[in-house]
Amino acid sequence: MDIKKYNSIEELSVNDKALMEQAIKSREHAYAPYSHFRVGAAVLLENGEIILGSNQENAAYPSGLCAERVAIFAASAQHPNKIIKAMAVTCRHETNVTDMPLTSCGSCRQVMLEYELKQEAPIKVFFYGQRGSVLEISNCKSLLPLFFDKNILR
Ligand code: THU
Repeated sequence: MDIKKYNSIEELSVNDKALMEQAIKSREHAYAPYSHFRVGAAVLLENGEIILGSNQENAAYPSGLCAERVAIFAASAQHPNKIIKAMAVTCRHETNVTDMPLTSCGSCRQVMLEYELKQEAPIKVFFYGQRGSVLEISNCKSLLPLFFDKNILR
């Protein structure tokens, strides 16, 4: 897996840091009254536009959705033909400081990979907590070994 580790958000390039800062802002729009765990995601499109998402919970727990999927589904719904270049994801627990990078759940990895395969171009992903290190993964495929994809549906 092509993975880079930065000791802090300050080590990111100006553009990558700006994308993460958007994810941090979006994190505060989470609706997380049950887990108190806020996640923000920012999707960067090829034209420079950034689409945001945050986790949206529900009293019927499984009806809620993770930040990554909120963001990536919104990007695909609003800009179906634009290439997604990168994605930044960050989390913050409301009562404890999160000093390690969040890494997306399996369902989000599956969804991120679907769009990467669709567009036939890698989506770079940055993971961050509230402070501390940042992880950069060069493509979604390496986040999900032995993934399920459309080829088996034929
Ligand atoms: N969550 C995300 O938004 N992204 C992930 O990758 C993992 C988990 C959300 C779902 C739920 O609202 C809360 O975090 C606790 O699991």
